[in-house]
Amino acid sequence: MTAPLDVDALVAEASAALASAGTTDEVRQVTTAALGKRSPLVAAHRSLGGLDPDERRALGRRLDDARRTLEAIADDRRRALEAAELEAALLAERLDLGEELPDRARSPLSRGALHLVTTTRDALEDTFVGMGFEVVEGPEVETDWYNFGALNIPPAHPARGMWDTFYLAVGEPETVLLRAHTSPVQVRLMEAAVAAGMSPIHAVMPGRCYRRDTPDARHLPVFHQVEGLVVDEGITFADLAGTIETFTTAYFGPEIHSRLRPAFFPFTEPSAEFEITCTLCRGTGCRTCSGTGWIELGGCGMVDPAVFDAVGIDGERWTGFAFGFGIDRCAQMRHQIADMRSLVENDVRFLRQF
Ligand code: DAH
Repeated sequence: MTAPLDVDALVAEASAALASAGTTDEVRQVTTAALGKRSPLVAAHRSLGGLDPDERRALGRRLDDARRTLEAIADDRRRALEAAELEAALLAERLDLGEELPDRARSPLSRGALHLVTTTRDALEDTFVGMGFEVVEGPEVETDWYNFGALNIPPAHPARGMWDTFYLAVGEPETVLLRAHTSPVQVRLMEAAVAAGMSPIHAVMPGRCYRRDTPDARHLPVFHQVEGLVVDEGITFADLAGTIETFTTAYFGPEIHSRLRPAFFPFTEPSAEFEITCTLCRGTGCRTCSGTGWIELGGCGMVDPAVFDAVGIDGERWTGFAFGFGIDRCAQMRHQIADMRSLVENDVRFLRQF
């Protein structure tokens, strides 16, 4: 017969030990001591057989209650400690990237923005899309045929002097070049329409162009143009003039108008230059417009029959007009930028204004 066990004292002692356990390991040790094979509780359980039935039942129930109570306390304590240990481990492993960075990188980041030429191109595209045009692009590296030949400018023709062209040392001498204007995309578009069985064309073609120009206040060797082409049945010069005027007021505002002046381009007949109301003086005359109240924006005209011939369009049935002008020039006029070179010098103090 073992000494009678003080179950209440055992529970009190073990639960105090669990409450002060600082690690899950300690919880395990306390639990083993109080409830394990060699614990007084298990010993008492073994001795139940020597008791009479009533005592056995009463003590048995108390021992079971004590075990359940202690197991529950131990579980709670273990869970609490596990959570705390996890938290501590995460904290220890945390990388504070901010602390590693130099002050400049940590300061609130300023957001980038689209370049003025890009936003100008987007706005021009939007205007033309609103007028029913589709937007098409073509390659910047072109052949002699698309940049000149198909546009009624044969090899060695003096009109080639109108475009100071960058030729590339690829293939035959002087057959591969950086396009000097967006007009070659017209040719590609007409060829594609013919190949697809010919249907009307209403398209604008924006993109980058290259010329061997020395940069100055109004020229950049790498610049942007947008080309327009309409080919349909019954298209007249009046459609061209109306389209230019509609575009001018839609893009520049209702006070700015357009006018056409006779000019020459090999790929249009008749050809014209189009001018718009001077955006600086609004037409009253100033230094920028040499007192005329008008500023030249681009070229235009009726598609020359020789161009239709080159791409295989029946010029008896189809007629069309084309136009082209500089996107950078457009931005310059709209925002009164004195020197076009500011567009490519990447001075954010300048660019940020737009
Ligand atoms: N490609 C001409 C240039 O760069 C501009 C131009 C003139 C385009 C008349 C046209 C046009 O489509 O019809 O100088």
